Amino acid sequence: MKLSLLSNKAQSARAENPLGRLTVLLNDDLLAVNALILQRMQSDVKMIPELAGHLIAAGGKRIRPLLTLASAALFGYAGTRQHKLAACVEFIHAATLLHDDVVDASDQRRGKASANALFGNEAAVLVGDFLFSRSFQLMIEDGSLDVLRILSNASAVIAEGEVMQLSTANDTATTEEQYKRVIRSKTAELFAAACEVGAVVAGRSAAECQAMRDYGMNLGIAFQISDDVLDYVATGKRLGKSLGDDFKEGKMTLPVIRAIAKATPAEKKFWNRCLSDLDQSDKDFKEAVALLHKHDVLKDSLDEARRYAGQGIRALSVVPDSPLRQSLEELMVFAVERDY
Ligand code: IPE
Ligand code: IPE
Ligand code: MG
Ligand code: MG
Repeated sequence: MKLSLLSNKAQSARAENPLGRLTVLLNDDLLAVNALILQRMQSDVKMIPELAGHLIAAGGKRIRPLLTLASAALFGYAGTRQHKLAACVEFIHAATLLHDDVVDASDQRRGKASANALFGNEAAVLVGDFLFSRSFQLMIEDGSLDVLRILSNASAVIAEGEVMQLSTANDTATTEEQYKRVIRSKTAELFAAACEVGAVVAGRSAAECQAMRDYGMNLGIAFQISDDVLDYVATGKRLGKSLGDDFKEGKMTLPVIRAIAKATPAEKKFWNRCLSDLDQSDKDFKEAVALLHKHDVLKDSLDEARRYAGQGIRALSVVPDSPLRQSLEELMVFAVERDY
């Protein structure tokens, strides 16, 4: 695969982690996808490219479109359908981020002010709707009913996940099972769909399409558990999001669910006050982090993420071995151990 469009320096900087290596391997494809994203976010209504451009130009890891590209390339697919579909997947993701930051009242995204903070909730929601609709136009242009089924299903399931999360927020009796249902829906489903459509455009067997789906599903679960750990303990600017948003909103994430299961009566009162009543002062977040450390639940949560990562790697065993497959295996490690 040609690497000519990246300088040596940029290549070695990117080669420092599995996501970077995958980006280098798929560099030409990704450039085509980024060009399509820029082209398709355009509109005569000026605020649309302004707001969408603010989010999209801020970068992001592009992990989901990379999954579609990797999955198609893994099976030796030589056409270009995966470019539109990868752009479509990133549009679905971008739309959910715009909506998610409104719902979570988050003021930072991708190292910049979030779109809602900068343009207001109304504009962020409506441009999110625009990007969702664009993603459907891209699916229709592709013309495959299978692809349309997979990605439209993912869109509906993501929305279900975000709504389910509304009903578990502030409920300290939330179970791990409920949490898993939420993260499968709001996050892992799109990872699964992104992988599956790559195999579908490559015309692979049902078993191989399912294997890619399983890989993506497990990757997405591991990725979200890691995200939920990072929301408490990320260090450095690289995360690009504010620390403590989940705590501030009373989100019931895995570390918290496990800490509550091990809590003393006084600690239970603390969690109820902070997460259910949202009665918090500045020092409470520090106290929460201390309790997560005390009960070792951050490490427990990452161990749980590692179990999913292992399952995802096993799912790949039915696809042909190649440098790309190895890269996807390594990406599992990145999903868990990442700091951004
Ligand atoms: C953020 O996803 C939303 C989650 C599912 C945690 P990413 O961490 O992939 O966001 P970007 O695209 O890199 O900004
Ligand atoms: C992300 O969940 C899920 C979707 C965007 C659908 P989070 O709320 O944990 O993601 P961040 O932390 O805001 O990126
Ligand atoms: Mg959020
Ligand atoms: Mg989060």
